[in-house]
Amino acid sequence: MAGDSFYRDHWINIDRDRLDRYQRMFQWNAASSALYEPADIRLGHIVADFGCGPGHTAIEIAKWVGSGGHVHALDINSDFVAQSRKNANAAGVGDRVTAHQCDGSILPLPDESLDRLTTRNTIIYVDDPERTIREFRRVLGAGGRVHAIEGDWPMMVIEPVPFKDWVAFVNAASHACRTPDIGRKLYGLMGLAGFSDIDVQVVTRPDTDGRLLPMIKNMAGYARGSGKTNDAVIEKILSTIEQAISAGSYLALAPQFVVTATR
Ligand SMILES: C[S@@+](CC[C@H](N)C(=O)[O-])C[C@H]1O[C@@H](n2cnc3c(N)ncnc32)[C@H](O)[C@@H]1O
Repeated sequence: MAGDSFYRDHWINIDRDRLDRYQRMFQWNAASSALYEPADIRLGHIVADFGCGPGHTAIEIAKWVGSGGHVHALDINSDFVAQSRKNANAAGVGDRVTAHQCDGSILPLPDESLDRLTTRNTIIYVDDPERTIREFRRVLGAGGRVHAIEGDWPMMVIEPVPFKDWVAFVNAASHACRTPDIGRKLYGLMGLAGFSDIDVQVVTRPDTDGRLLPMIKNMAGYARGSGKTNDAVIEKILSTIEQAISAGSYLALAPQFVVTATR
C-alpha cells in the first residue's frame, strides 16, 4: 500500500515511460484555449504557470505575452523543469520562459512581481492548498489575477457505473492526490487568501466515446492494491465502462472548476 506522501512522491519520481506519456497527454489544444480565456493574458504581461508539466501551457502563454512579456514555468518535478526549457527553446520562445523547480509552499518569485498566475490540475496535489494560494497572492501585483482550473473527483459521473461503486473507486484512488474535492473548495480558499472578484465557472464536456478512459485507467492503477476496495470491483467497473462504450450507452462527466480572482 502507498505511503501517506504518495500524492507528492508520485510526481517527484516519474519513470521514463510515464514522462513520455505525459509529454503527449499535456499537449495544448483548442479546448485548452477556451479554458484560459478568462485569464485575460495580454502582450507584455509577466505570468507564472504553476504545475507546468512539460511546459506546453507556458509556451502558449509565452506567445500571448510576446517578446515584451515573460513566463515563469514552475513544477515540482526536475525532468518537467528540464523538458519545459527544452520545449520552449524548440518553440522559439526560450528567451521569455524561465523554468524553476518548486513545490508550492514557497514560490521562487519576488512579492508583487506578476500580472497573472495560471495553474491547472495541480493545487489538487499540494501539501497545503491554503498556503499555496496565499503564495499566489503574494507574488501577484495589485490588480493581478489568478486563474485556476481544477477537477473534483467525487463529483465525476460515470454512467452506467452504479453511484456507490464509483464512490468506492474514487475513495480507493484518492491517496494519489492531497485534496480530491479541490474544485468545490477553490472559491472559499481564494476568499480566505484575500482575493476579490472571485468568478467560478464549472465546465464539463460530456465524454461519450471514451476520451476520459486513460484518466479512469490511471485512477484504477492507484485504486488497485490500496486495500480500500476489492480489486474485483475495480475490474468490474472498467469492464462495465468498456462494454458501455461499445454499446453506445456510456456517458462520463468530469467537471472542471475554472476560478479567476483579482489581487
Ligand atoms: C496533472 S499534471 C498537470 C500539468 C499541466 N498543468 C496541464 O494541465 O497540462 C500535474 C502537474 O503538477 C506538478 N505537481 C504536482 N505536485 C506539485 C507541487 N506540490 N508543486 C508543484 N508542482 C506540482 C506535476 O509534476 C505535474 O507536472
